[in-house]
Amino acid sequence: MGQPLNTPLNIGIIGCGNIISQYLETFPVLDAVRLVAVADLDHARAQAIAAGHPGVRALGVSELIADDEVQLVLNLTIPAAHAQVALEVIAAGKHVYGEKPLAATSTEAAGVLAAAAAAGVVVGCAPDTVLGTGTQTARRAIDDNLIGRPISATATMVTPGHERWHPNPDFYYAPGGGPLLDMGPYYVSALVTLLGPVASVVGAASHTRTTRTIGTGPRAGESVPVTTDTHVSGVLVHESGALSTLVMSFDAVATQAANLEIHGETGSLIVPDPNHFDGDVKLRTLGDTEWRTLPVSAGYAGSSRGIGLQDLALTPPGTEPRAGGRLAFHALDVMESLLRSAETGTSITVSSSCERPAAVPLTEPAALAAP
Ligand SMILES: NC(=O)c1ccc[n+]([C@@H]2O[C@H](COP(=O)([O-])OP(=O)(O)OC[C@H]3O[C@@H](n4cnc5c(N)ncnc54)[C@H](O)[C@@H]3O)[C@@H](O)[C@H]2O)c1
Repeated sequence: MGQPLNTPLNIGIIGCGNIISQYLETFPVLDAVRLVAVADLDHARAQAIAAGHPGVRALGVSELIADDEVQLVLNLTIPAAHAQVALEVIAAGKHVYGEKPLAATSTEAAGVLAAAAAAGVVVGCAPDTVLGTGTQTARRAIDDNLIGRPISATATMVTPGHERWHPNPDFYYAPGGGPLLDMGPYYVSALVTLLGPVASVVGAASHTRTTRTIGTGPRAGESVPVTTDTHVSGVLVHESGALSTLVMSFDAVATQAANLEIHGETGSLIVPDPNHFDGDVKLRTLGDTEWRTLPVSAGYAGSSRGIGLQDLALTPPGTEPRAGGRLAFHALDVMESLLRSAETGTSITVSSSCERPAAVPLTEPAALAAP
């Protein structure tokens, strides 16, 4: 790394599917990035986006990667394509920021980081939700010693399955998908942000059905094969010694458990859903009889998907962005290790590590918007 990022950074998006609309809503309030082009294997999807966004060109995928105006590619393709697209972007000398997970496997992801390091380009990766006020206010509470020494955490994500709302849910039920690789990035990124990197894991996993039925869109009623586990639970042993218990499931109807709780020697925190940017952080310390809501004290206020790009664009040269490739790689490594532990029935040492990303000071939306 070291190549300066001039702002506004010109962005080209590859992958115009379900999630792009959330990014398109955010771009107008980010003054450090500017969308200039879109592409998709299905060119009509790119054309439809360009038609609704003056100044944005619909290009072929290779054309966008080669385009002189594009400085960073936002990779919103499906997980199986993340690494291949990222490598092509890096080979063209451009920065890349991908949707999660960084790649379908940690081997592929390692190739992406190695290629980027050799090319001197920056890799960023979702989730950027953990840069919002929810996770960051909890981070501030821990850093300010409001719960004493952190001892443990519980992370719970359960749903009956994404096939109920996603028109093309196939990838969620194939290797590289499943509840852990799909939703785990939010939880593991939050846990690393709050408690630091993970040293080892123990996991167990199962699946209840071999097919799922699409519930919406033109393919409603169609059956999708399930070739990956759809319920994963496990324990993450952080380098600090703290223990996080994780339950990620596409096989449960509902829960009343908090998405994320952090327990310290002298206090407990309820942390909002790490798949959201904001939400109340609640604290209860020894002797308290009730939970109290903490005032918002850190993070990008009013943010939404894409804030990680702004953060990356403003990161000093040579510095890892907060929603950076190394955190995404470690999160993927942790999740893969959990699945390997489930397969082998043994504890697995996580070979990678990463810096706990820098805390985000409270930043109001007005500080982001272009004048
Ligand atoms: N849908 C969501 O709510 C959501 C939320 C958060 C994150 N994500 C992540 O965003 C990514 C995309 O998810 P989605 O729901 O938008 O998927 P999607 O299937 O709706 O869209 C993916 C798009 O990428 C295109 N594409 C696939 N391979 C390509 C390639 N090699 N080159 C160019 N285009 C290619 C497809 O044609 C499609 O238009 C995934 O990594 C997913 O985990 C999705």
